[in-house]
Amino acid sequence: MCGIVGYCGLKQASNILLEGLKRLEYRGYDSAGIGVGNDGKITIIKKKGKIKDLREIVPPDLRGFWGIGHTRWATHGEVNDINAHPHTDQTGKIAIVHNGIIENYMTLKEKLSSEGYNFITETDSEVIAHLIASYYDGELEKAVKKTVALLKGTYGIVCVHADEPGKLVGARNGSPLVLGIGEDEMFLASDVPAILAHTKQVVYIEDGEIVTVTPNSFNTTDHLERNILKTVDNVEWELEEIEKGGYTHFMEKEIHEQPESIMRAMRGRLDIELATGHLGGLNLSSKELLNIERVKIIAAGTSYHAGMVGSYLLESVARIPCTAELSSEVRYRNPIVEPKSLYFAVSQSGETADTLYAMRELQRKGATVLGICNVVGSTIARESDGGVYIHSGPEIAVASTKAFTSQLTVFYLFTLLMARMRHMSYGQGTEFARSLSKVPEQVKKVLDKKEEIKELAKKYSKAKDFLFLGRGINYPVALEGALKLKEISYVHAEGYSAAEIKHGPIALINEYTPSVFLVSDDSLRDKIISNLKEVKARKGKVIAVAVEGDEEVAEIVDDIITVPHTNELMYPFLMVVPLQLFAYYCALELGRNVDQPRNLAKSVTVE
Ligand code: G6P
Repeated sequence: MCGIVGYCGLKQASNILLEGLKRLEYRGYDSAGIGVGNDGKITIIKKKGKIKDLREIVPPDLRGFWGIGHTRWATHGEVNDINAHPHTDQTGKIAIVHNGIIENYMTLKEKLSSEGYNFITETDSEVIAHLIASYYDGELEKAVKKTVALLKGTYGIVCVHADEPGKLVGARNGSPLVLGIGEDEMFLASDVPAILAHTKQVVYIEDGEIVTVTPNSFNTTDHLERNILKTVDNVEWELEEIEKGGYTHFMEKEIHEQPESIMRAMRGRLDIELATGHLGGLNLSSKELLNIERVKIIAAGTSYHAGMVGSYLLESVARIPCTAELSSEVRYRNPIVEPKSLYFAVSQSGETADTLYAMRELQRKGATVLGICNVVGSTIARESDGGVYIHSGPEIAVASTKAFTSQLTVFYLFTLLMARMRHMSYGQGTEFARSLSKVPEQVKKVLDKKEEIKELAKKYSKAKDFLFLGRGINYPVALEGALKLKEISYVHAEGYSAAEIKHGPIALINEYTPSVFLVSDDSLRDKIISNLKEVKARKGKVIAVAVEGDEEVAEIVDDIITVPHTNELMYPFLMVVPLQLFAYYCALELGRNVDQPRNLAKSVTVE
């Protein structure tokens, strides 16, 4: 959740750390701090608030060629200057930044306190600094090794010692840590964007590893002190991709990138000629794919909604029983793993703790789990038994948009592949593939409606409650629309199956509670129009997202946004875009911080 960055090299560390933290701000951002080493001491500057608040109090003449930085998303201890990282030992010589949660910190704290160590913060992380101090006898690396052996929980840690200039020691268990290799300089960070401006050469640190870094060298060992040979990877992302490129917000940029990002997800994979999908990363032969009798999808947040669409498709089109489940629930309910089942762990970041731990639990039980991830080299991508990258490019805004439509694309491709191996004819496959190939163009047309959607947001953004209602394959899209609005505008919104409202939510309807209905021209259209009329009869305001030319719906509802006609299975792509834009413009109307909504983080690496 928190972001960490470390630097050693020939440049002034403070600038590099602040710039790295700025790029990580989307991960967690209630406070931030840096620690810079120089002349036998570590200068710590930390503050509640944004990176810009921190920047204001960093003296321009702060010198030092190595240091660490942190942007915090509070878990233990309130948000204030003292609880911000870096944390130090009593001498102030050792400084650490930590991402994760130390579950046994109370026990460690009690023991250290009884030995005379004085704690000044409410955080779990401070124990790390004191533990290192208790073991330190001139070699930071050794003390860190002894320390992490006692830690229970999750951590990505970077530590420095004032008397070991130019050296960073990092350790990882469950929270990401990546080493960046530059020329006469090295970086450690929780996330690639923090260092992308400086290098594309990276080494992914694995759980249980400890890495010692100087400007010209790095050495990685495991907990048994064995040296580990690491491979250097090349990051594919470009710096421009993590910048706003003329847009006001990352979310706005990412919504607009969807025609291109959907295209990227299908490039080289959608085969219209043979009416099938090619997904090389699955690591499964045709025979193995044919033997699959059940598919299960696990995910959290927006990725879960994509998984729900995936499960609808796989069952209704490929005729394979399929369920999507929240990963946080899967882990603790002792799931049954059947031999012919295939699992998908869907995660944009590839680091979500709920999904990662559920995946590991399933793997322990013998399951084959494939990842559908965006971040290359992320933990889920590496630990899964195969999978598919969605290739959205970096998604920076907390509220996920382009990753959702790219995750959908992968499910459509997989459905096509599986369906064609079973009962789907060449003709049906061609129709499906053609419709899918047209989606990027159609999404562009929906984006052209943004001015209309902006007006709608002006009209409705003062409402206190919203309902988002859809059916069939569009039901998860309704959930996603409600989630988007909640996340960035803080307006209460519920997503429901339109059929279900009569079993409860209709009690909420009055002239002040608008409902957003998703009405496609599929077999459920008439039923959903009946649901819509039930709301109108109770004086509820209705906004419809419907298909171009649907006069009947246009006449009944208060407002309408239309999307192009398509194959009925493709509507989730077209229906979600107006909902993303609606949430975006409502948030702007209400003056919210769109890219960094309160209390939320992009990558949730704690349970
Ligand atoms: C967080 C983010 C959501 C995201 C969810 C799952 O809650 O704020 O936007 O959908 O995590 O993230 P993942 O990276 O696993 O897709």
